[in-house]
Amino acid sequence: MTDAPTAQPDAAPALGRNDLEAYWMPFTANRQFKAAPRLLVSAKDMHYGMADGRRLLDGCSGLWCVNAGHCRDEIAEAIAAQARRMDYSTAFQMGHPAAFELADRLAELAPGDIDHAFFTNSGSESVDTALKIAIAYHHRRGQGQRQRLVGRERGYHGAGFGGMSVGGIANNRKHFGMSLGGVDHLPHTHSLEHAAFSRGQPRWGAHLAEALESIIALHDASTIAAVIVEPMAGSAGVLIPPVGYLERLREICDRTGILLIFDEVITGFGRLGASFAAEYLGIVPDIITIAKGLTNGAVPMGAVLVRKEIHDAFMSGPETLPELFHGYTYSGHPLACAAALATLDLYAKEDLFARAASLAGYFEDAVHGLKDLDHVADIRNLGLVAGIELEAAPGAPGARGYDVFLRCLEKGVLVRYTGDIIAVSPPLIIEKSQIDELFGTLGEAIEETA
Ligand SMILES: Cc1ncc(COP(=O)(O)O)c(C=O)c1O
Repeated sequence: MTDAPTAQPDAAPALGRNDLEAYWMPFTANRQFKAAPRLLVSAKDMHYGMADGRRLLDGCSGLWCVNAGHCRDEIAEAIAAQARRMDYSTAFQMGHPAAFELADRLAELAPGDIDHAFFTNSGSESVDTALKIAIAYHHRRGQGQRQRLVGRERGYHGAGFGGMSVGGIANNRKHFGMSLGGVDHLPHTHSLEHAAFSRGQPRWGAHLAEALESIIALHDASTIAAVIVEPMAGSAGVLIPPVGYLERLREICDRTGILLIFDEVITGFGRLGASFAAEYLGIVPDIITIAKGLTNGAVPMGAVLVRKEIHDAFMSGPETLPELFHGYTYSGHPLACAAALATLDLYAKEDLFARAASLAGYFEDAVHGLKDLDHVADIRNLGLVAGIELEAAPGAPGARGYDVFLRCLEKGVLVRYTGDIIAVSPPLIIEKSQIDELFGTLGEAIEETA
């Protein structure tokens, strides 16, 4: 464990030419940011260093990805060594050993008979790849009419057209035209009325899985390729799966031949205290999408993990042709593979998934300690993730969330906000004293906004 509480991010490098104008920032209020920039310039273990010299406790693992903490030497060295040995290896029709080794390691880690990995460069590409594999799989088996996809309200599956289409966040969809046809959505499972302040999985909500039966009744299962859900929805504000809900989706999919895809871009690699949410919840999906924690955020990389039966269905036909006409120039990039292998070694060496599991109870108590503060409408948690939902300020949705975020930042803690929901998902190396600092600061910030 390198989490010496005293570890300091390196000194800030010179900023150089920087009038901030040319960069069109993603998922950011650009004008607001540029009027009062927040620049991160260094990172180590649990902390970021800011351009103005401040040190920030990272309460969100970067963006749900730096599960082993920042700037881990083992990962940095593996990337540097690979960059000197071979920078890039042609991705199509040639291979390099690290990609095969990584696929093997992921197959070992994955639940059930999920035993093949297809590499991508991001969560969005993983989702689009998974949807294409699902449709192509049915086509391969003579069921080419199975083309419909089912997502869920408030789901986030990345920013590509596929992920946007099965996703269920209105702002991410409504400006961008028609999206994919043939997509239906399950209702989301969030209810303040029935499940506010649940600790862990809410007991209410399993019945919402029955909506899949209604979609099947409408279209017939023979036209549906796959259902995709985040086992725990992160980006739309930490929505925890009700007890029995995912089990019911699995049963319906088993009965009808619809593939079940778990988007584990956030929940993969220890976030809930197990390698995958699938393992944590004891439900094996047919396909798992991953990214983020796969390389500890150090190099962009994603992957789609599939069951043997799905992979094997493609291994027929002329051996001279690709079995799947899909891939990316940087699929299995050598630097990403080096980072991922070093990351998996680190997770294993420091037993970080078990560490997350052992801290989950303390983390849960700490976050629920905020329950009685003014304007706290709900607190929910699972593993090392928590969502704190605040009442919206009258006539100003999102303003309170932004205010709390800024106050935390001023006090040296980075949290994430989505509208009026604060999300917390620290690196798995966090110490108990830092959990106290995180929620102590958040509590002060919430009190101040009240
Ligand atoms: C569940 C889920 N799927 C997909 C994505 C998209 O990943 P990326 O931003 O790497 O494309 C995200 C990103 O937060 C995510 O949370």
